[in-house]
Amino acid sequence: MPLWTAENPDTVIHADNLAVLPDLPDGAFTVVYLDPPFNTGRTQRRQTTTAVRVADAEASARSVTAITGFAGQSYERIKGDLLGYDDVFDDYWAFLEPRLAEAWRLLAPDGTLYLHLDYREAHYAKVLLDALFGRACFINELIWAYDYGGKSKRRWPTKHDTILMYVKDPARYFFDSEAVDREPYMAPGLVTPEKVARGKLPTDVWWHTIVSPTGREKTGYPTQKPAGLIRRMLQASSRPGDWVLDFFAGSGTTGAVAAQLGRRFLLIDENPEAIRVMRDRLGVEGVDFRDATSSRS
Ligand SMILES: C[S@@+](CC[C@H](N)C(=O)[O-])C[C@H]1O[C@@H](n2cnc3c(N)ncnc32)[C@H](O)[C@@H]1O
Repeated sequence: MPLWTAENPDTVIHADNLAVLPDLPDGAFTVVYLDPPFNTGRTQRRQTTTAVRVADAEASARSVTAITGFAGQSYERIKGDLLGYDDVFDDYWAFLEPRLAEAWRLLAPDGTLYLHLDYREAHYAKVLLDALFGRACFINELIWAYDYGGKSKRRWPTKHDTILMYVKDPARYFFDSEAVDREPYMAPGLVTPEKVARGKLPTDVWWHTIVSPTGREKTGYPTQKPAGLIRRMLQASSRPGDWVLDFFAGSGTTGAVAAQLGRRFLLIDENPEAIRVMRDRLGVEGVDFRDATSSRS
């Protein structure tokens, strides 16, 4: 029996994502949102990455890096150049790259990947995703700007995250800017009252508060992201009924927003605490919680 099909109810899987992603069907998800940990602590458990040039057809069918659409040898060269540069990134990318390759395989032909990163890794990710998806598939670099917490006096305080948006096919991706909640104009005096009343479309810079430490949204999960960010992504890049995947799910923000917007969700996390928080947050009625921790990547 397959682990998951699009006939399933909304699902949460407790597992190392790489152990279960290969069992999911190609092209099943309209949005993949990923907020991976930077410090993966995987230096001892390093994975070797799959070579692009796979000789036999069977291996080729299993190897996502061999799927048409990847930039092939140039991808391997760029990756080699980048990763030779810094050991920390070498380990980080050995962890992330096979998972991003799966994300690409799992995206629907009209699907979109949102990869949420911080300033330390975003530029590496951009170059690698250009190579992995193809440069034409890069759509936006979104900046989430916030203003909270301590401020360095030795440099500009770093108060933003970067979310890279890539699509499976630049000619076919789904994007409905009209479905997105509008925001107030910064200078309302410069536009007509009708425009002020309607609000403006967000740009690629998203000012949004962090999850308030005392607010209703807070789950207590340390890396929880604001629902308002993911709401924009799902409103623009999916339709009601579409499937959304988050395989670094944490507190389940993607699932909570998907449910509010009438999208369906598959969430994966390896941390038992994340699963506990998601049980509380998403409810158990109508959500299938599965344990696949015995699967090994
Ligand atoms: C930055 S947090 C995600 C937070 C989430 N966006 C939210 O709003 O709560 C990253 C998550 O990835 C999970 N994780 C890390 N490595 C994983 C792996 N190999 N398989 C599944 N989950 C993993 C961690 O347990 C953590 O919950």
